[in-house]
Amino acid sequence: MSDTQRHPFLHGLSKHRGAPPTVVIIFGASGDLTARKLIPAVYNLSHDNLLPADFYLVGYGRKPIPDDEFRGLAADAIKEFSRRELKPEIWDRVAAHTTYVAGGYDDRAAFDRLAAHIDALEKKLGRDVQRLFYISTPPSVFAPILLNLGASGLAAKHLGLPHHSKVIIEKPFGKDLVSARELNVTIRSVFEEHQVYRIDHYLGKETVQDLLVQRFANAIFEPLWNRNFIDSVQITVAEEVGVGTRGGYYEQSGCLRDMIQNHTMQLLALTAMEPPGSLHAEAIRDEKVKVLNAIQPLTIGPAGDVARAQYAAGMIGGKAVPGYLEEEGIAAQSNTETYAALRLSINNWRWQGVPFYLRSGKRMARRVSEIAINFRRPPGTLFAGETARFDLAANTLSFQIQPDEGLSLILNTKVPGLETRTQPVKMSFRYATTFGSNTAEAYERLVLDAMIGDGTLFIRGDEAEASWKLCTPVLDYWRSVGRTGMDTYAAGGWGPPSADALLAKQNHCWRQP
Ligand code: BG6
Repeated sequence: MSDTQRHPFLHGLSKHRGAPPTVVIIFGASGDLTARKLIPAVYNLSHDNLLPADFYLVGYGRKPIPDDEFRGLAADAIKEFSRRELKPEIWDRVAAHTTYVAGGYDDRAAFDRLAAHIDALEKKLGRDVQRLFYISTPPSVFAPILLNLGASGLAAKHLGLPHHSKVIIEKPFGKDLVSARELNVTIRSVFEEHQVYRIDHYLGKETVQDLLVQRFANAIFEPLWNRNFIDSVQITVAEEVGVGTRGGYYEQSGCLRDMIQNHTMQLLALTAMEPPGSLHAEAIRDEKVKVLNAIQPLTIGPAGDVARAQYAAGMIGGKAVPGYLEEEGIAAQSNTETYAALRLSINNWRWQGVPFYLRSGKRMARRVSEIAINFRRPPGTLFAGETARFDLAANTLSFQIQPDEGLSLILNTKVPGLETRTQPVKMSFRYATTFGSNTAEAYERLVLDAMIGDGTLFIRGDEAEASWKLCTPVLDYWRSVGRTGMDTYAAGGWGPPSADALLAKQNHCWRQP
């Protein structure tokens, strides 16, 4: 039997028909992500009446924390980070079912205590509940947690329900192809693939989901969505922030691992994939894997398809900021990149010959994520000026993922007046104007989807591996050459000259979003 036949909630793109009784167990409960994202997500789901009536929250972590104190910390997190204010009548309902279990991640006995804790909850309730394990810890303990979930019987499926227990795994999903494969093997020794939800929070963003709707719910785009009409595609995920206090993590990661391998590659997959046969999770993920596997291996080395750089001191928002090498916790001769750009070719019928340019960096001019589809230039002969032969701009359709979420199209228009002069103008749609701005955060959507068993917005194991397959040779090469070829860019700018050179080869240049 397929997942869809067995589980009614698997149909469609996240149709929220209600989650079954659930206990969410957060590993890494005193961590930053729990406070910033997970607790506020649970609170806002409760606010929207999207949690099941029988909902329980169990925090798990190494630090002993009394239940009351954990509830207090959770309330503080909501006050600080939730998009909506804490309303006691809503939070009290969740708090009444919120508890904490202290234990190590490689401590088998502690997992038995966790199992007993959940059994006791179920006994009190008089029925079994679905167990959703959320692994939000540093990656070094992913494997011990998974193995202990298996050994303690917590991961076991029983009651004949296909999704009685599930696991959400935070990024980073491995640090290269070998480690991602190993992690997949560990996961599959304990859970079946349909019980596994690998997070990429970009997939939970409204605008990323809207990309599918825009592409497939409008008749005007799909006929043009190919090499005959599209000249190039640019995907930008730029951040204004630097590494801040995350130097320790970032030194082990770098931009390619932190942003490109996951977030930007997912944006590329959704942009470039073939129309899926349905909106079923597997249909969409099959298409994403196909297009990821169709990307030609990158040419690496001088004059190759990849650029990397570190930010130097500069100005952000009128304030002087230090360079990467001066940040706290960064090695004096670090060869960790804070910016990466890739030129990709997709070897299939639709995209052959269309370059896909991806870039991401910290400390860039401003925070912006967008996908820009550049169409071929129209013949300019009719409107040629006396000196310039082709004075028309190319049409560009851009999906603004964040901030100022929306969609815009650059069109050539006649400048009013007695002579015929053209000027590119921007036609824009903004979500906030049409729908208001207080939309659900990515984590709300993702936690709810996992509860109801919809894996559409999560990464399947083979997708993660396909993306690592592309990126790992680049990481290996960079490791082998140390700082050789490391470019720099001023903080507050749009990236290094080597990234401009990647595009110049095909007479392209980066957009200024
Ligand atoms: C995370 C990265 O996955 O995404 C961070 O680890 C980055 O380094 C963050 O800052 C960006 O997410 P968003 O949603 O703010 O664009």
